Amino acid sequence: MKHFINIKDVPYKTLRKILSDTKKRKDLRKKLKTLEIDKDNPLKGILLIQMFEKSSLRTRLSFYLAIRQLGGSALTLRPDELHLSKGGESLSDTAKILSTYGDIFVLRTDNEKKLNSFKKFLSIPLINGLSPNSHPAQILSDIFTIEEITKKNISRLNICWIGDSNNVLNSLIEASIKFSFKLNIGCPKNYNPPSEMQRMISQKSSKIKIFNNPKVAIKNADVVLTDKVISMNDKVNKKKKIKDFLNFKINSKLMSLSNKAILLHCLPRGSEITDEVFYGKKSKVWQQALNRVHVQKSILLYCLNKLR
Ligand code: CP
Ligand code: NVA
Repeated sequence: MKHFINIKDVPYKTLRKILSDTKKRKDLRKKLKTLEIDKDNPLKGILLIQMFEKSSLRTRLSFYLAIRQLGGSALTLRPDELHLSKGGESLSDTAKILSTYGDIFVLRTDNEKKLNSFKKFLSIPLINGLSPNSHPAQILSDIFTIEEITKKNISRLNICWIGDSNNVLNSLIEASIKFSFKLNIGCPKNYNPPSEMQRMISQKSSKIKIFNNPKVAIKNADVVLTDKVISMNDKVNKKKKIKDFLNFKINSKLMSLSNKAILLHCLPRGSEITDEVFYGKKSKVWQQALNRVHVQKSILLYCLNKLR
């Protein structure tokens, strides 16, 4: 069994294998309805347990559909219904029970340490469904979407992130290192990626550049990604932060400086993008959201040693 916690922990060849499995499976189920099971029924009898300590629409639905389409079932837990957060049951006992009843666990947590503790005590695979520092399933899925739309290997594209230095960007940085693509980051000066990420960049990549001017960052971009200015885990003066990002709002004028880039946004969205761009022709956000199902199916298979 394997965990899927951070992109940086998974070998490049394996990430590629996950993406090629996604393509094969997506092609094969073109005529199937939402809950029809893939012909090979590879996860028949498997139970996915997922727990969300933070809000989620896409991640919970896409993992639900992913396991169902592979022949298994899903159970979604709310932490406030468990003894873990209310009755004081230990995390190790909770993990033991999850491993006894279930076959694979998806966790969205507001605490990085909790991911490590679950990893330590679970005897089933653990998938990170977003943590304060990482959103690996989102970014692997976004790479699939980018290659599906552009029909190019991502290493041949200029990728640009305009926005906050958050969990999604961290995973994008890790992906840039693994997949060797150019990544321009555009963010206000006081919001550069954290020092440990900058250290990783300077040690492992010459293709990642940080700009504090969005017009410079977006130049030549084939793909522009962004995310909310205020993340779920942000404990900041929200008004001030939104104001600090005003010049980084993605509008048509800024997009016109790119190389006719497509626009991706993991959703949910806030004030970082205009409706015109978000609903515009170059926006691929709905295809992006649906691809979460397809890529996560291959991630589940990878974790359960069933990847073809
Ligand atoms: N993009 C994403 O993970 O969305 P949710 O927070 O709705 O799961
Ligand atoms: N950066 C956002 C992503 C939401 C999917 C957050 O953590 O809230």
